[in-house]
Amino acid sequence: MAFEDLIEAWDGEEVVVHHDPPTSSWMCIGVHSTITGPAMGGTRMKPYPSPAEALDDVLRLSDAMTWKQAAADLPFGGGKAVISVSDVPARESAERRALLLRYAELVESLHGTYVTAADMNTGEADMDVVGERTSHVLGRSVANGGSGDPGADTARGVFHGIEATVRHAFGIDDLAARSVLVQGLGSVGSRLVEHLRDAGATVSVADVDHARAAAVADQMGVTVVAPNDVIGTVCDVFAPCATGKVLTEATIPLLRCRIVAGAANNQLGVAEDGERLREAGILFAPDFVINAGGVIHLAGYETLGWDEATMTKRLEAIGDTLLEVYEAADREGISTAAAAHRMARSRVAAVRSG
Ligand code: NAI
Repeated sequence: MAFEDLIEAWDGEEVVVHHDPPTSSWMCIGVHSTITGPAMGGTRMKPYPSPAEALDDVLRLSDAMTWKQAAADLPFGGGKAVISVSDVPARESAERRALLLRYAELVESLHGTYVTAADMNTGEADMDVVGERTSHVLGRSVANGGSGDPGADTARGVFHGIEATVRHAFGIDDLAARSVLVQGLGSVGSRLVEHLRDAGATVSVADVDHARAAAVADQMGVTVVAPNDVIGTVCDVFAPCATGKVLTEATIPLLRCRIVAGAANNQLGVAEDGERLREAGILFAPDFVINAGGVIHLAGYETLGWDEATMTKRLEAIGDTLLEVYEAADREGISTAAAAHRMARSRVAAVRSG
């Protein structure tokens, strides 16, 4: 689709598209909504086949952030940024640093309408660099005044979400009787495995990085499943913690689980896949609700002055929000994805109408 068609079809507030001559990169910042506060969301750095595809991604991702912030009841709106590079520059290289500083100036030019953070291929060291040119950044290292990598709190939130989802599906939240398959053992997945194992669940793991899967299995005493066998593996809970679009018209009929509840963003291929899961009798924890621990961590520690006890309560509350979503979905006979969107939209509408 052409730039103008993408923007015309989008219902967000503002999008900034900037060409960076020294690297021929494209920087796109999507400010989907500031109704509930400044638009907050991470910066994704990756190659895209065309600038239009980078724009398409940022528009879609910033929209999703609006619902994530609202579902978590945070005083932020939805935003996201993409830096479309021909090759991702090496960490700590001069080229990467220069690119990030120019990107930071773009963020600064929005005067706080957009607040950035880390996302795919960016981390706390990058946010430290961004923080040299703008104060509108979260997730810098602790040494530089930030709260660091939010992955551990994302994992805690997902764990509470799994407990609540198990309670709704099986009537009891004791994980000792349950089997959980975790796909993706990165910052979030590997920590989730630890929580699940400590709670007594029977855990299996998969990662395309075979060495990583073997190391986690060895360290935690869990079983490895081959990455290509994940979809058909029998388990109570499938926890996608790797990539998006794992739940599609093709994969849903092959799933052999009662629950899908994991950290990955945008797990549904298309919106209708939420209904497909419902028809298949699979209870789906909407991703933007269960994986909000990252934004809760950033907002809570860096802008709201929370202590650890408040953080723990807010991460546990992810389970309560999911239970509300499931009850609404049951009552109205709609998918959990649709119920979660309805809840988030009504929160934004309530703020808008004052
Ligand atoms: P990460 O990049 O640290 O780890 C991802 C892991 O998934 C890697 O070990 C990779 O080898 C593996 N992987 C990739 N494709 C795979 C496949 N097809 N099958 C099996 N394994 C595969 O990512 P992180 O930070 O752990 O995030 C995981 C997911 O959660 C992502 O979708 C991310 O967008 C989402 N998320 C992360 C948050 C955070 O705080 N880190 C917050 C909210 C969402």
